Amino acid sequence: MYICKILIKTSMPSPIKGFSKLSKEGKIEWLIANYFKGSESAIEVLKNYWNSDAKLQKLHDEFIENTISNFYTPYGVAPNFLIDGKLHTLPMAIEESSVVAAAAKSASFWLNRGGFKTSIVSTTKIGHVHFIYEGDKSKLRDFVNTNKSKFYEDTDSITANMRARGGGILSIELIDKSDKIDHYYQLEAKFETCDSMGANFINSCLEQFSKTLSDNLQADNNFTKKEKELQIVMCILSNYTPECLVRSEVSCKIEELEDGSGISPEEFAQKFQRAVKIAEVEPYRATTHNKGIMNGIDAVVIATGNDFRAIEAACHTYASKNGQYQSLTHCEVKNGEFRFWIEIPMALGTVGGLTTLHPLVKFSLQMLNKPSASQLMSIIASSGLAQNFAALRALVTTGIQKGHMKMHLLNILNQLEATEEEKKIIVEHFKTNTVSHSAAVQKFCELRGIESPAEISKKS
Ligand code: MEV
Repeated sequence: MYICKILIKTSMPSPIKGFSKLSKEGKIEWLIANYFKGSESAIEVLKNYWNSDAKLQKLHDEFIENTISNFYTPYGVAPNFLIDGKLHTLPMAIEESSVVAAAAKSASFWLNRGGFKTSIVSTTKIGHVHFIYEGDKSKLRDFVNTNKSKFYEDTDSITANMRARGGGILSIELIDKSDKIDHYYQLEAKFETCDSMGANFINSCLEQFSKTLSDNLQADNNFTKKEKELQIVMCILSNYTPECLVRSEVSCKIEELEDGSGISPEEFAQKFQRAVKIAEVEPYRATTHNKGIMNGIDAVVIATGNDFRAIEAACHTYASKNGQYQSLTHCEVKNGEFRFWIEIPMALGTVGGLTTLHPLVKFSLQMLNKPSASQLMSIIASSGLAQNFAALRALVTTGIQKGHMKMHLLNILNQLEATEEEKKIIVEHFKTNTVSHSAAVQKFCELRGIESPAEISKKS
């Protein structure tokens, strides 16, 4: 058992040097002494989340620096997703109560109406060497064009494996950005990275391009001494991938929207379309609308070991591509048909990164039948569309709180430390009554025969 020898600090902690070099125990000791007044129970909180399998714990410890525990997020599944004629169960890692339930509900709804139909618009990724050049523009342009083959040759060993898999560098162009910042240019390169997300591959190529650019310019007698003082600012892929694009769509005859909820299919279609239109023109609403889409997207992105920050960044930039932040989904009601679709950038990997390292990521990918990166793009776009459908359907009919609070009820009861028996009775009660925080607390108090939850702590 790990025993902590803690020196309790009462004043503000002073900066620490070499923290990352301390052992895990040393880091915890420092933290508990400085921020938790030496509390043994604070150490317990961290230890309760350690995995009992030391090898598995070590694997997780080594994903990042300064790991002191694990941070659990529920891992749920949403079945019945019919995507391009194939039935999938989606893995979802998310803490928000209603997201998995909403995805599953939407999937079931569209299962009997043809499912999700997707298409990959393109899979091109992009990166830049950003540099400053204070010389003759046309000389630089000629230089890049005549030396293009050198960029490919010098990255030959980096690109060999990717080329063997059908990918590699697609193009290299000089972009003049000197109208934005004085003397600012880019070497813009496009890549196909097949089933890998490709960040390391792209960044390695870009760093070599910058060397090729500098070295060859130095050796070129056409350039003056001043022109040879080209400064490389940075070499980095762009997470904005508008040419790595997927589209997912659901559609049905308007009368097929009938689902027994009391509202006519025509009225539902009209209200739904209007809600999407509002998100197309109103950034306040678009932000929340797209947040709901990202509920469905991020959960599967995380469960499949992909980088949700990159996906978020790309989607939000794409949502602003027309100069104003807009909805990522669109709806058309025409000639008796309801069509609802999403088009989003989605740079993903199904090989490399965490995909073979994290046991639950491996599990997710196996559950999805080991998809290619393109197939995963289709699955995740459909998850976002499903989530948005569920949210809008609730918003324009019953309101969002009914379903949301029903799912949140268990969180409230857990906060109140209700027993299993009490939970059963209260959940049953709210099957026919509207859930709110105060109504749940009131029912709990009624059942316990107390005035307020504060009485529990007084009694114990
Ligand atoms: C909550 O996480 C997401 C929603 O607000 C999305 C929306 O309003 O469309 C329900």
